[in-house]
Amino acid sequence: MANVTFSSPIMPRDITVYAVAGDRGTLLALAKAHHIPIPFDCQDGECGSCVVETKNLDAHSRHAIALTEKEKEMLRQLGKITPEEIREAEVNDVAPRYRLACQCFVRDEDSFVSFDGDHTLP
Ligand code: FES
Repeated sequence: MANVTFSSPIMPRDITVYAVAGDRGTLLALAKAHHIPIPFDCQDGECGSCVVETKNLDAHSRHAIALTEKEKEMLRQLGKITPEEIREAEVNDVAPRYRLACQCFVRDEDSFVSFDGDHTLP
């Protein structure tokens, strides 16, 4: 059970949606289901269009952070992840600040997801 709040300058207001317990869909799938306009293209972790900033609103929760090599490499290319953040994710399960919405599964915790709607590779 989780409330996910989406925020963006391209949206008239923040929208909080309820992710059903057991729903293992991605953040992008959740956004699409609720007409949240996160940009996307490949939906396979290869274009970087769907990068979002995520904040876990439950400071005490820690879950296994599943960063694939593909996601790490794309976030690196976008300049959205540091070697320290990668190490923290892999060693201590600390979520990095940015994720690819198409690769990030909704977890059982409240979170705040923001995006600017205009991501391009540097
Ligand atoms: Fe291409 Fe997510 S849509 S990386």
